Amino acid sequence: MLAPCYNPAMTIEPWALEHPKLRVCTSAEFMYDEMASQSGRSLPVVYRDFDLTRREDWHDEGCILDFLCCVGADDARILDFGPGDGWPSLRIAPSVGEVIGVDTSERRIEECRSNAGRLGLRNARFVRVEAGADLPFEDASFDGITAASSIEQSVDPSATVAELHRVLRPGGTMRLAYEGLRRYAGARERLATVAGWAGGSAVEVYERDIAGESALMIRVCTPLDPHTLRKRLAVPSGPWLDLDRLSIERLDRLKADIVEVRVCRLRHPSGKTWVTLCEEAGFSAAGTHSGAEAARRLFGSGRRRFQPATHAELTAYLFPVVDSVVTMDAPLNTDPWITAVKPAGDCTTGDPPT
Ligand SMILES: C[S@@+](CC[C@H](N)C(=O)[O-])C[C@H]1O[C@@H](n2cnc3c(N)ncnc32)[C@H](O)[C@@H]1O
Repeated sequence: MLAPCYNPAMTIEPWALEHPKLRVCTSAEFMYDEMASQSGRSLPVVYRDFDLTRREDWHDEGCILDFLCCVGADDARILDFGPGDGWPSLRIAPSVGEVIGVDTSERRIEECRSNAGRLGLRNARFVRVEAGADLPFEDASFDGITAASSIEQSVDPSATVAELHRVLRPGGTMRLAYEGLRRYAGARERLATVAGWAGGSAVEVYERDIAGESALMIRVCTPLDPHTLRKRLAVPSGPWLDLDRLSIERLDRLKADIVEVRVCRLRHPSGKTWVTLCEEAGFSAAGTHSGAEAARRLFGSGRRRFQPATHAELTAYLFPVVDSVVTMDAPLNTDPWITAVKPAGDCTTGDPPT
C-alpha cells in the first residue's frame, strides 16, 4: 500500500543527511550517469520505427512539431538543453540548420553521439558541460532553445534560465517542457522501491513536496542482490515498498552493507513559477497549450477519424493544428508548456551589474 500523502514527519532525510556514507549529488550523478538509455530505448525514430497506430508516437510527433513551430527555421542554430538520449535534438535536426545538445552527464553525451551517428545526422553536436558552470558559448549565439524535462534537473533552475537567456539572441525563443509535481498529487507524493544500481541494489525513496515545488531523492546503495536486500529489510516483493515499514531501524539493519547514501534535491517549479523565473531573467514569458497534448487528443478521435498512411501524412495533418495551439495561452495552474522570448532590443549578457 502506498502512503496516501506527503508527511514530512515520516521523512528519512535527516537520517540520510547524517549518514557517514552521504554523497550529495547532482541529478546526473544520482541517476543519468548510470543509465544505458535514459528513455529505456523507447524513443520512436531514434531507437525504433515510428508506429502510426500508437498514441504515444502521435504524442511524440506533437512534441517535435511543437518545438519546431516555436523555435525552428531552416537555417536556425538551436541549443537543446539536457537532451538525455538526444531528445528532441535528434528529431528536430533534419528541420533546422544546426542543433547543439548540452548535458552534464558524459554517459548521456556518448549515447546522443552514438544515436546521431547511427541516424546519419551531421548537423547535431553534443557537448558535455559542468553542472552550474557557464555554458561554453558566446552571448546571443543561438536562434532558439529547447529544454525538455531538463532545467528542473539542474542544480539551480533560476541560474540556468539566466544563462540560457544570455546565449539566446535577442528576438529568439526558448520553448520549455517540464515535469511539474501536480501530476503526483493523490497517492504518489512519497514512494520507495528497490532498484538496481551499478554496484548491486538500492533502496530508493522519492519525496515530493508539491506545494513547496521540490523533490528529494535518496538512494541507499548496497552490494546486495534485490532479494537479499528485501529480506534484510523484511519487506515483501512488489513494485513499491510500504513506507510505513521503511523505518530507520530497518534501514540500520543494512548498516554494514551501505556503500553510499546518495541524496539529490531538485527544484520543480510550477507553470506560474517558471513564468516568474523567465521574466526575472529578462524573457517575456507565457504558458501555452502544447502540440503534444493536441496530438495525443487527436489520436483516434472524431467521427471522421484520420488514419494517415505514412509518417509524412501524419506530420502534414498535425502541423497546422500544432502551429495554432502553441500560440494559445493556457492557464498557468495547469502547468502548461512555456514560451519565453528574449525581447528584440535586449542585449544584456546576464552578467551582474558592476
Ligand atoms: C529527464 S532527462 C530529459 C532528457 C530529454 N530531454 C528527454 O526529454 O527525454 C534530464 C536531462 O538533463 C540533464 N541535465 C541535468 N542537469 C543538467 C545541466 N546542468 N546541464 C545540462 N544538462 C543537465 C540530465 O543529465 C538528463 O540527461
